Amino acid sequence: MILPILSFGHYGLREETREVEKDYPQLKEMISNMFETMYHANGVGLAAPQVNIPLRIFVVDGSPLDPIEDENMEGFKKVFINPTKLNETGEEWPYEEGCLSIPDIREDVWRPANIRLRYFDQDFNEHVEVFKGMQARVIQHEYDHLEGVLFTDYLSGLRKKMVKSRLNKISKGQINAEYPMRFPKK
Ligand code: NI
Repeated sequence: MILPILSFGHYGLREETREVEKDYPQLKEMISNMFETMYHANGVGLAAPQVNIPLRIFVVDGSPLDPIEDENMEGFKKVFINPTKLNETGEEWPYEEGCLSIPDIREDVWRPANIRLRYFDQDFNEHVEVFKGMQARVIQHEYDHLEGVLFTDYLSGLRKKMVKSRLNKISKGQINAEYPMRFPKK
């Protein structure tokens, strides 16, 4: 089932998230809905708060990205449950990020090159793993959603000013997204 994606300005994107319980009854269904919603919107990552579920889970699939440009993204399809960021290392590098909750806005964000993460997969097996490059980038962006953080929060004062009116429009629903969205209630 395709779920509506919360837009910038919706409270659900800033809400505190809870851990997913091991016996969470609709876990498989939730994961499959999240993948379906992400693919339909042509995203490479989707976090539960974006579909108004305040739980610590996100899904990624990097295969839609150009395999020549992003070699390590091919077959990078994963579910991250209750992830904990252990550390981030390496030099910060800029990448023009976008977000399904913030259509049509892309801005450079600087993040460390590597992230070490503890997480559970969809069978609740625990993993501790280091991710690099674009894999790290996607994880850092989605992890932020679990903390109520959006990529636009990182923009400099000047860049923020420049996108402010477009963000306001998005939060008022004045946008033609190619997928179902839910906007803040007036
Ligand atoms: Ni996002």
